[in-house]
Amino acid sequence: MSSYLSDMFSLVGRVALVTGGSSGIGYGIAEALGRAGAAVVLVARREERLATAAAALAGHGVRAATISADLGDRAAIARVTEHAASLFGEVDILVNDAANNIRRPMAELTLDDYEQTIAVNLTAPYLLGQHFGPRMAARGWGRIINIGSQQSIRAFGDSGAYGVAKAGICGLTRSQAEAWTPHGVTCNTLIPGFVLTPLTEPAQAIPGRVEALAARTMTGRNGLPTDFAAIAILLASPASAYLTGQTLCVDGGFSVT
Ligand SMILES: NC(=O)c1ccc[n+]([C@@H]2O[C@H](COP(=O)([O-])OP(=O)(O)OC[C@H]3O[C@@H](n4cnc5c(N)ncnc54)[C@H](OP(=O)(O)O)[C@@H]3O)[C@@H](O)[C@H]2O)c1
Repeated sequence: MSSYLSDMFSLVGRVALVTGGSSGIGYGIAEALGRAGAAVVLVARREERLATAAAALAGHGVRAATISADLGDRAAIARVTEHAASLFGEVDILVNDAANNIRRPMAELTLDDYEQTIAVNLTAPYLLGQHFGPRMAARGWGRIINIGSQQSIRAFGDSGAYGVAKAGICGLTRSQAEAWTPHGVTCNTLIPGFVLTPLTEPAQAIPGRVEALAARTMTGRNGLPTDFAAIAILLASPASAYLTGQTLCVDGGFSVT
C-alpha cells in the first residue's frame, strides 16, 4: 500500500473489540479491521463459533482472541471489560454489533422479550461504551462503531422491541460522540439493509421475500457481510477523524427508495 493510503487507513498497532464478531456482519467487520492491521477480540456466546471465526482470521494473518459472554448478562459484560485489555492491550476500536431480533407482532411481545432485547441491543453497547469510551478519550484516540438497522429510522416488518433498541442506538451514538469526540474519539452508527446472515434466516425462509427485498434496492441485490468491510475500515481509521455522530446507511439504496 502507498504511504498516502496507509497513513489514512492503516490500523496497524490498533486493537479492536467486535461484539457479534463470530458471525455475519460482525465477522465481516472483524476480518476487515484485522486485515487492515488491527488485532481483534471477538465477543459472542457460542465458543465453537468463536473458535471457528478466530481460526478464519488467523488464516488471514490476523491476531485474534475470543471472549465468550452473553451480553444480556451484566456480570458477563463486566467480565468482558475486565479481561479485554489483557489480550492485546487497550481497546482502541469498539464495534457494537451483537444483537438479537425477536420477531413477534407488537401486541404479542412479552415484557421478557422487551427486556432481553433492550439488554443485548442497547444496554450492552451503552455499558461497553461507558467502559471503553473514557479510556479512549484519556488516550486521545478512539473509534466506536454501533450497528443500527433500518428500524433505526423507520418501521420495517415487526420492528417491535428491536426497533426501539435500534432507534436508541442512534441516540447513544450521538451522546457518545458529544462526550468523547472532543478528545479524539469518533462515534458513528452503521445501518445495513437486508443482509443474508443467520439473523435473517426466518425472513429468508419466506418464499419470495429475498427476491422482493433485493428488488427494493437500487443495486438489485441484498447485502453481504463483505459489503461492510470498506466502511468499517474507514470508520475505524485515522481518515475519519472529522466524521462523527453520524448515521450511515450501507444498504444498496434501500432506505432512499
Ligand atoms: N442481517 C441483516 O439483514 C441486518 C440488518 C440490519 C441490521 N443488522 C444488525 O447487524 C448486526 C449483526 O447481525 P447479523 O445479521 O450479522 O447477525 P448474526 O449473523 O446472527 O450474528 C449475530 C452475532 O451476535 C452474537 N450474539 C447474539 N446475541 C448475543 C448475546 N446475547 N451475547 C453475545 N453475543 C450475541 C452472535 O453469536 P452467539 O449467538 O454465539 O452469541 C453472533 O456472533 C446486528 O446488530 C443486527 O441487528 C442486521
